[in-house]
Amino acid sequence: MGRYALDMEKYADLARTASAEGCVLLKNDNSTLPLKKGDKVAVFGRMAFHYYKSGLGSGGLVNTRYVVGILDALRACKDIALDEELIGIYEKWIKDHPYDEGEGWGLVPWSQEEMPVTEEMLQTASGDDVALVILGRTAGEDQDNTDKPGSYKLTRTEEDLIRKVSSQFSRTAVILNVGNIIDMKWVREFDPAAVLYAWQGGQEGGNGVCDVLTGRVNPCGKLTDTIAEDISDYPSTSNFGDLQKNYYKEDIYVGYRYFETFAKDKVLYPFGFGLSYTSFSVQASAEEKDEHTVCVKATVKNTGTKPGKEVLEVYAKAPQGVLDTPVRVLCGFAKTKELAAGEEEHITLEIPKNTFASYDDSGVTGHRDCFVLLEGTYTIYVGTDVRTAQKAGSYPQTFTVLEQLEEVCAPQKPFARMTRKPGDVIGYSDTPERIYGPYDRVEKPAEISQTGDKGYRLEDVYDKKISMETFVAQLSDEDLIMLFRGEGMCSPKVTPGTAAAFAGLTSSLRKFRIPAECASDGPSGIRMDCGTKAFSLPNGTLLGCTFNCELVRQLYEMTGLELRLNRVDTLLGPGLNIHRNPLNGRNFEYISEDPFLTGKMGAAQLQGLNIAGSTGTIKHFAANNQETKRHEADSIISVRALREIYLKGFEIAVKEGPARSVMTTYGPVNGVWTAGSYDLNTIVLRKDWGFSGIVMTDWWAKANHEGQPSDPRIHAVMAAAQNDVYMVTADAQDMQQDDMLEEFQKGNLTRGQLQRNAINILQFVLKSPAMLYEMDRISPEELKDRKNAAKDDPDVSKMMKFVTDEQGNIRISGGGWDTHQGKEILADLDMKAGSYELQMKVKSNLDDLAQLPVTVYLDNIIKGTLSFRGSKGQWVTQQIRFDTFEGHHYMKLYFGATGLTVDHIAFQLSGGADKEQ
Ligand code: BGC
Repeated sequence: MGRYALDMEKYADLARTASAEGCVLLKNDNSTLPLKKGDKVAVFGRMAFHYYKSGLGSGGLVNTRYVVGILDALRACKDIALDEELIGIYEKWIKDHPYDEGEGWGLVPWSQEEMPVTEEMLQTASGDDVALVILGRTAGEDQDNTDKPGSYKLTRTEEDLIRKVSSQFSRTAVILNVGNIIDMKWVREFDPAAVLYAWQGGQEGGNGVCDVLTGRVNPCGKLTDTIAEDISDYPSTSNFGDLQKNYYKEDIYVGYRYFETFAKDKVLYPFGFGLSYTSFSVQASAEEKDEHTVCVKATVKNTGTKPGKEVLEVYAKAPQGVLDTPVRVLCGFAKTKELAAGEEEHITLEIPKNTFASYDDSGVTGHRDCFVLLEGTYTIYVGTDVRTAQKAGSYPQTFTVLEQLEEVCAPQKPFARMTRKPGDVIGYSDTPERIYGPYDRVEKPAEISQTGDKGYRLEDVYDKKISMETFVAQLSDEDLIMLFRGEGMCSPKVTPGTAAAFAGLTSSLRKFRIPAECASDGPSGIRMDCGTKAFSLPNGTLLGCTFNCELVRQLYEMTGLELRLNRVDTLLGPGLNIHRNPLNGRNFEYISEDPFLTGKMGAAQLQGLNIAGSTGTIKHFAANNQETKRHEADSIISVRALREIYLKGFEIAVKEGPARSVMTTYGPVNGVWTAGSYDLNTIVLRKDWGFSGIVMTDWWAKANHEGQPSDPRIHAVMAAAQNDVYMVTADAQDMQQDDMLEEFQKGNLTRGQLQRNAINILQFVLKSPAMLYEMDRISPEELKDRKNAAKDDPDVSKMMKFVTDEQGNIRISGGGWDTHQGKEILADLDMKAGSYELQMKVKSNLDDLAQLPVTVYLDNIIKGTLSFRGSKGQWVTQQIRFDTFEGHHYMKLYFGATGLTVDHIAFQLSGGADKEQ
């Protein structure tokens, strides 16, 4: 095996460990868990029979070779016995109540109908030792959760199930296979003995959960969010979901920063909380090491009887002065090794003070737009959750400016934001008047004089024969504009079924030997809509709950190898948006309500990915915190909340990953669509953080000119802002599709700006595996490893047979085809030689953001992917062309997403009937 070979067993082991370490045990009365040897286990809940490996949408469409659900894993466990009779009752019911997968994106149910628990079922299970109740929720793009039964809340039937089972079994454990926290009031009401958040663990998820249930792994996951009593307790709830303007009025008081400061009594489970089957003690001291650093020394001891790991969490409390601050800010954490009973570990953490600095966006300290340390006492708390962490030390601080920055993305008009008043009372005060408009500081870099083609190729820059500037000088204005345009979905220029190609896409750019780069979703594994199999990873929240950066780094090292094996240059993830509100539909992809943890986990993923040469694209930059009207709703946020909360995680990942690629959002922040925001894409990313990679838009994103509505044709402002790549167009060469050429000719977009962006893109290309392929510098071992990687053949036994008519044409009716996601239509075709056009006529009731790809294979070779989008009930036709030779061929159509009705497909021969290949 070569250096880049992928060890699938190691990959699965790491994913399984992560799934187990991410499980968070909230309650465990009567030592209900772990299951004991010989226990007879009654499994309740239909979701036991359909494990949610991830959420939905782009972050969940991984075609896996297998998925181990919780029940599968329990079945394989020899030490316990399952109540098969009860399982039989469920299986029978599920036959009449099949899993409802909904359609496409946006119309997928977030939960499934639960089987009402009957007396017969309870009677059947009455002699069993322990009951597991497995409940599930999914979520995804375009649709948020709702504070309703079946989404954030349990349904009546689910409540009834927990109530009845809990009253019958003193050992009842409720297992939540969910992407995101849900309402937890029912725990108090029905009092099940144990509650475990198992999240969505990817293809190895069931194994990980089973390891925790059986005690093979001692639970050691911690909540990355505060679970409050009611959704209305989260201060963001009153504005969340607004269709036009979403005021972030809670400002920096997000998650535990709010609850610990103002509303401790509303918390059911605090941030950072999670139980173990053993117990730990923590002794800690903290002191100021020097003017930049605080040093925490702690001893964590396993005081119980079972081996286990514990998480050490460090929080800072800043003095309350002219600038108000929350009473706790996470500034460090570490996970112990597995400690045997009685064993202890000494941990030393050196914490840079800037991890808990405050941002003054108003100048109240006399230093506007600075990260500062305030005058007064800083106290450090150490423990195993935010609520119980104990004071470990304090030190006096003099007022210090740590970093002078600039105002960015300021609200157009002041709005009232939350502040902490003396006595920890909530107050409101207006955000400052903004100083800069979005275009005040846009730089127009000097242009490089164009030379035309001097015969230099990108390889010459790679080999340091010429400078990047000399290379870029050769590119024409058209080339520069075309470099801006990515192509997708499923571009035939890169790995089949992936989200996009970018860089060397046109014949003119290819002449300079610029390769086509490949980007694929992300983040929960590699999404290849043509059906190619990939590894499905645990979701972002679960990974966060491990609090184990090293484990996450190792896992993503495997994903990095898998990317390289599949010739994907960047994975579209990790997702680093903040869990501002539990109802956000994409929280499952993101990590936490806390930016420090988010940033550290994001950096760990990137560090792993980067090892094999591919990378990740951190997204969505920034403040993509609701799915409802995600293209339009304006996030109105103070500069302080941006700097301390919504940008912070990205900052850590950019600096510590490091990140080489960033994706902007669909929507606006303070009136400016992010793809066209110079402040975000140039000032924050590049000037403040030193980022030197590429920025791409989200798919088919829009932009605007401040004060005006957004428009899909407005692209020039993106390029001017240094959002380097537009995702995605059907054809990079088409100059009519947007305002690029027009604005360039008017001088609103300059050659210097385009050349600057071209350099960003080409620097990215130089570091990518695609460049090595382009230069033919991939080692023979690596090529061999790629060849040996498993290939999945279509099921030939299911084929229909068709023969051409006299003209060489074939028409196949699509009536009755099962076009659900992952389904295949196979056909055996007798064709003539020549050039064929395949036409496919379909309709879908979804709207045009739904991605409904169909990949066409001929003789197991991909001929292309028809990238259908939702057509709102209208029939639409798409074509692809290919040449073939006379004789027998087989065709496979692979449906990448549910939601299409097919009228027919037709193969039409055009000329060259005598052509032989
Ligand atoms: C999502 C992105 C994703 C892209 C490509 C968009 O709908 O917001 O996160 O990477 O599609 O599939």
